[in-house]
Amino acid sequence: MSVLEADQVKKEYQMGQVTVSALDGVSLVVNQGEFVAIMGPSGSGKSTLLHLLGGLDGPTDGEIRLAGQPLSKLNDNQITVVRRRKVGFIFQFYNLLPTLTAEENIGLPLLIDGQSLDKQRGRIDRLLDLVGLTDRRHHKPDQLSGGQQQRVAIARAFANDPEIVLADEPTGNLDSKSGTAILELLRKTCDELGATIVMVTHDPRAASYADRVIFLKDGLIVRELNNSAADSNVQAIMDVMAGLEL
Ligand SMILES: Nc1ncnc2c1ncn2[C@@H]1O[C@H](COP(=O)(O)OP(=O)(O)OP(=O)(O)O)[C@@H](O)[C@H]1O
Ligand SMILES: [Mg+2]
Repeated sequence: MSVLEADQVKKEYQMGQVTVSALDGVSLVVNQGEFVAIMGPSGSGKSTLLHLLGGLDGPTDGEIRLAGQPLSKLNDNQITVVRRRKVGFIFQFYNLLPTLTAEENIGLPLLIDGQSLDKQRGRIDRLLDLVGLTDRRHHKPDQLSGGQQQRVAIARAFANDPEIVLADEPTGNLDSKSGTAILELLRKTCDELGATIVMVTHDPRAASYADRVIFLKDGLIVRELNNSAADSNVQAIMDVMAGLEL
């Protein structure tokens, strides 16, 4: 079953007199329970695509359907609600609120959605356990390591039980050991919780955790690789990237 569909999506940015084409007709289907990585050279449109998929910005042309809902048919308020309830976001620099503790950051999306945190105690406890931070629940972001902050951000992304989680370079700011822990955690959410993830990354090793890798160049999907769980595909991914960056 498809959770997210992009149909001939284009995005142009107007810079004074100049029109910059960031996406030039991208079509993509992400199925329930899939972990998809998006790779491509700098400026190829990866972040733009992720923002459009999550309703953070609208396409110039084409359609995005999230959980069957065409986003172009929704007004701004409706899109805000879809984003809040159906999409979880993870960013490179965590984007936690510095004055809130780990558990308060995790509960924030629930609070914003008007839910009572007292009633959601059990859910927040489960999320803390999922990301291995039960003993850090009262720590503020500046009392946590980078990897721990990103794990808080992952728990926060899952707080509203989203249809899809979108991650832009989630390991981009981490050392390789913390990065591996994050990738294993994302893989686990797919395998054990049935999560659906789209992750942008520069790192072939990170992309090898995904079920499928999509390669963008100049705003178009130019290649796709399937990863088999049995053998990770780092070399094949590196070869495609080397070809694209020529
Ligand atoms: N807000 C904007 N206004 C104008 N042009 C933009 C804007 N955002 C992105 N672009 C342009 O669109 C193209 C795609 O940008 P995007 O950020 O999606 O690339 P990316 O693949 O994420 O790159 P990177 O790997 O460096 O993060 C680039 O040419 C960029 O300059
Ligand atoms: Mg980017």
